[in-house]
Amino acid sequence: MDKKIIYSGIQPTGCITLGNYIGALGNWLKLQDDDEYQCIYSIADLHALTVRQNPAEFRARTLSFFAQYLACGVSPEKNIMYFQSHVPAHAELTWILNCYTYVGEASRMTQFKDKSAKNADNINMGLMDYPVLMAADILLYNTSMVPVGVDQKQHLEIARDIANRFNNAYSPTFNVPEPYISTMGAKIMSLADPTSKMSKSDANINATISILDSRDVVMSKFRKAVTDSDNTIRIGEDKPGITNLLTIYASVTGKTIDEAVAECSDMPYGVFKQHVGEAVDELLTPVRIKYNDLMGDKAYLISVAKEGAEKAAYLAQKTLRKVYKKVGLFQL
Ligand code: TRP
Repeated sequence: MDKKIIYSGIQPTGCITLGNYIGALGNWLKLQDDDEYQCIYSIADLHALTVRQNPAEFRARTLSFFAQYLACGVSPEKNIMYFQSHVPAHAELTWILNCYTYVGEASRMTQFKDKSAKNADNINMGLMDYPVLMAADILLYNTSMVPVGVDQKQHLEIARDIANRFNNAYSPTFNVPEPYISTMGAKIMSLADPTSKMSKSDANINATISILDSRDVVMSKFRKAVTDSDNTIRIGEDKPGITNLLTIYASVTGKTIDEAVAECSDMPYGVFKQHVGEAVDELLTPVRIKYNDLMGDKAYLISVAKEGAEKAAYLAQKTLRKVYKKVGLFQL
């Protein structure tokens, strides 16, 4: 396999939003038909354990996330898709990499500091180890590129540092991954506060559209979307709400922003919001139908997850064996 590896993990927390769909998934769908790349996606269930999960809900949500990606058209034939906990090499390489990671650098991570502040009663070792597990995810697969948002950039940096440190201590073992900056996919903002990003774990349910929201819910959320009192439909820094709605409309219809503005500029806000809601619902309806079909066929989902885990484990095991040998673990 000489294709460049693109690796990404998805934490099964919150819900998959319209922002994820427009921002990342569109790109995944394009990449899966590009012969230059092999994409590997894991459901990062071990990462999610760093904050307390209700076991029954967590188990259900993990499978649901997997089904949602499939429902969006991410193909298990063209990509390697699996659950992180099904490939033991992730936990095993994490242990080794822990011995090449300094407590100082791990405790300086912004996300660790943020999450420690938010979970003051549960600052567990996993929270600090989070970036090392993420480094193991990436480094196990000879990854060339990792699509990252700003919030994960620092974690990619530490993965690169760990890889270089290991390579220098022994001999070239890990590919040192680069960030992959997507050229497509607009940034979608919260419907309730259009100056902040649409987040999959926003507490305000009206802030985000889940890709599984029913038509009624979609329409109602767009009706409530925050705009402004200026009553003109145009983009501009002074109009974050309308700009966001125009961006969403253009993204889901495949039109340019200019086309969207030309089409909608005469609409009163109420009509415009409904128009955007309709377009979003049209995009999401087939996803919802496919999702329900998939969730009705657990045996199929499990077989896909198994196959993905086998493919991933084969690649991961090769790297892990090399690493064990280099550090001097006695081999049988
Ligand atoms: N930490 C990432 C996030 O919260 C998820 C993740 C886990 C990941 N392992 C990864 C992303 C490996 C990229 C590569 O978004």
